[in-house]
Amino acid sequence: MSVPADPAVLATSLRTDPCGALGLPDVGRTVRLGGWVHRSRDLGGLVFLDLRDRTGLVQVAAGPAWTTEPVQAAAAAVGVESVVLVEGTVVAREPDRVNPDMATGAVEVRLSALRVVGPAVTPAIPVARGPKDRMPAEELRLRHRYLDLRRPELQHNLVLRHRLLQVTRRFLSERGFLELETPVLTKPTPEGARDYLVPSRVHPGEFYALPQSPQIYKQLFMCAGYDRYFQVARCFRDEDLRADRQPEFTQIDIEASFVQREDILTLAEGLVASLWHEAGHEVPLPFPRMSYAEAMERFGCDRPDLRYGLELRDVSEAFRTMAFAVTSAALAAGGRVRAIVVPGGGAWSRKQVDELEALAKGAGAAGLLRLRRSADGYEGPVAKLLTPEAEARLALREGDLLLGVAGPDRVSSPALDRVRQECARRLGLVDEQARCFLWVLDFPMFEADPDSGALAAVHHPFTAPHPDDMAARPDAPATWRALAYDVVLNGTELGGGSIRTSDPAVQSRMFALLGIGDTEEQERRFGFLLEGLRAGAPPHGGIAFGFDRIAMLLAGAPSLRDVIAFPKTTAARALFEGAPTPVPPDELGALHLTVRPAGS
Ligand code: AMO
Repeated sequence: MSVPADPAVLATSLRTDPCGALGLPDVGRTVRLGGWVHRSRDLGGLVFLDLRDRTGLVQVAAGPAWTTEPVQAAAAAVGVESVVLVEGTVVAREPDRVNPDMATGAVEVRLSALRVVGPAVTPAIPVARGPKDRMPAEELRLRHRYLDLRRPELQHNLVLRHRLLQVTRRFLSERGFLELETPVLTKPTPEGARDYLVPSRVHPGEFYALPQSPQIYKQLFMCAGYDRYFQVARCFRDEDLRADRQPEFTQIDIEASFVQREDILTLAEGLVASLWHEAGHEVPLPFPRMSYAEAMERFGCDRPDLRYGLELRDVSEAFRTMAFAVTSAALAAGGRVRAIVVPGGGAWSRKQVDELEALAKGAGAAGLLRLRRSADGYEGPVAKLLTPEAEARLALREGDLLLGVAGPDRVSSPALDRVRQECARRLGLVDEQARCFLWVLDFPMFEADPDSGALAAVHHPFTAPHPDDMAARPDAPATWRALAYDVVLNGTELGGGSIRTSDPAVQSRMFALLGIGDTEEQERRFGFLLEGLRAGAPPHGGIAFGFDRIAMLLAGAPSLRDVIAFPKTTAARALFEGAPTPVPPDELGALHLTVRPAGS
């Protein structure tokens, strides 16, 4: 793994070769190697050490015919995971001793000198593991990350991550993009999460925010004439974590001037294709496209997984005249009855369907309406109320299970999305090899709070509203589409971006619609952007990819933690370093802070 094309570049004053590159052409050479003792076997007369560095393993053999007694004794005594420098001669192994599982398995190094330079205490978790050995619990692996990172799987992931970054840099640089950096101690940038705040020592009561993204800075680069920017940017968001979210994560952040939506989509597709190519996959271009409205209607989700069907259906008409309290109330209130029909789901037990209902409830639904069609007819709370007309509308086949949610779309969509995903998983409909890329376009500009009606930006406040919608319905901002786009793969949002508002007056209006109408407040919070726009702003737009997510998917890893060297747990803790930690009162005092006891 990760042996450079010319392994000689890894030679240093202490080693002639990396471990993993030795082979038959090296037979007869005297080599000096450095590495960790992966495994050791003492067969009495012979001692074998598997020596490991990041390029791989090689077998080092100590035997009385070629190794002095003290060196052999030292080889027998060295503990696993200790670091040694060895010297020896490369020899071909006897044909029956060749190890086909090891890249260097045709040779071994006959030991002549050994120095233990980094003796290791007994490792807290094993590094060498056979295929049948169980993986230690993740907490333990995160606690002892320095050992876990020695595992070939994680090394492979981080090497892949490196390669993907190199591809990104080359791809963008070749297209005239400049890699420019932006501050980490900054002002809040609204991306929808809470900020991590850093108190200022020299300015009592004032705080920096860690960037949720470099959004405003990249727009200021455009105002400043740096018309193609990118950055491998660290972003910080204090939000509820899941397997594909970390509090600190990396974006490939891109912005360009004198562009329209198509320019960015084409560029982004090219970058994605290059990244997937680097990992050995060819991606057909262009990606299919779907409007946000269609995605929500058919899948209840703005990042639909297109590897399987089970699409949502509007079955309101089948329930329109039915005297069933739940559906009647929802329909009377202007809602709908939406459902998925699961072929074969009719065979699921009550408990299995209850589990689906629990998912729907977890996503905000009051319940999950079930209707089964078996050889004996219909089963479920509305079975007896079905008219022939309703039966015809539902068109269930024998063995089908209908799972429905009655209510407004904002309730049925997330609930049925959750249920759809779980049904597909249960039925084995998810083709792990399939790669369904998708652009989701025409997002709404705003979403309205169902109670207060207050508007919030669906992407962020700097996204440009669709000019046609603004012109056609100037007083109905809740109906405006945004010039925003997300790229989705198999249900994961890989990236998102938009064409921006470059007119300061329109930007000011957007802030006002978002409840920041006061000009002074606008200037205080976003003055640095507004001033930039007023100073002459080109039309511009961009996108940001979640780089950790891309690395995770291309590594085939189940969690972002497997592609981040030092990740946080889902409780946002760094177990290895032990962060966050309490701070002594005098340090807090210097920052003009006091800590209130929890719960007060
Ligand atoms: P957005 O908020 O959509 O856009 O973020 C872009 C991409 O970043 C990834 N991402 C995350 N990855 C890991 N952990 C997280 N907590 C996390 N949050 C987001 C996702 C997402 O698609 N400034 C805009 C971009 C733009 O408009 O150009 C932005 O940050 O893959």
